[in-house]
Amino acid sequence: MFPSELLSFLRTAERVAVLTGAGVSAESGVPTFRDAQTGLWASYDPAQLATPDAFRRNPALVWDWYAYRRALIAAARPNPAHYALAEMEALFPDFSLITQNIDALHRAAGSRAIIELHGNIRRVKCAECGKTASAWDDSREKPPRCEHCGGLLRPDVVWFGESLPPDALQRAMEAAERAQVFFSIGTSAVVEPAASLPRMARRKGALLVEINPEATPITPLADYALRGKAGEILPALLEAMTRRQSLRK
Ligand code: APR
Repeated sequence: MFPSELLSFLRTAERVAVLTGAGVSAESGVPTFRDAQTGLWASYDPAQLATPDAFRRNPALVWDWYAYRRALIAAARPNPAHYALAEMEALFPDFSLITQNIDALHRAAGSRAIIELHGNIRRVKCAECGKTASAWDDSREKPPRCEHCGGLLRPDVVWFGESLPPDALQRAMEAAERAQVFFSIGTSAVVEPAASLPRMARRKGALLVEINPEATPITPLADYALRGKAGEILPALLEAMTRRQSLRK
């Protein structure tokens, strides 16, 4: 099923980086931005809710929208793609899992070498002082206030028009630059700067592997474009990679 050159390359590679996007969580039923616009929220445009401006105008509305999305995500469980990636971490001495997802499902599946480019919906941060927290009480005031400075708490995610966390971006770029193999999985590869990472890795000589049921703007650069669902391809690839040589004869 997989090209033997790809498998032998993977069996000897030491430095691997992976970029994941919404497609990896699709099989867990995590709704994308658009899918989350149902019921009460159907008339709101996500681009109008996930912005610093929206939060300034109506912090309670934005807080409620994220509480709704957080509840949808809380019901989701990791899928075979998340578990396969967690297992891959143990196979390579230098492995980085760069994700654009805010759902924390990679961590739930056991991955540890995670670089969260767009934040994490399970954390909040103070809109004033930037301190983060993973527990809060919004039973009295919405949004609740920062216990350090009294500023309003907001989800610790990257909104439209905001910069990515500089440390995460820096680590992601370094991982892309030193990778011998770079996987781009379940991402439309259009949102910058994440979309530049596969290009950067390719330029530095990495083998670029895409896993996606559809073509994306980086498909023409990919050495291997594996068409299909991440939850099916990744476990099969892991199995093929780790199968004992003798069994392959
Ligand atoms: N397996 C693999 N890929 C899949 C699957 C699947 N089962 N299902 C869908 N896909 C692919 C789609 O073909 C598409 O290319 O996942 C990609 C999802 O693309 P987007 O929805 O654009 O998600 P992503 O690339 O993560 O978006 C980047 O944009 O919405 C903002 O900040 C948000 O982090 C997000 C960023």
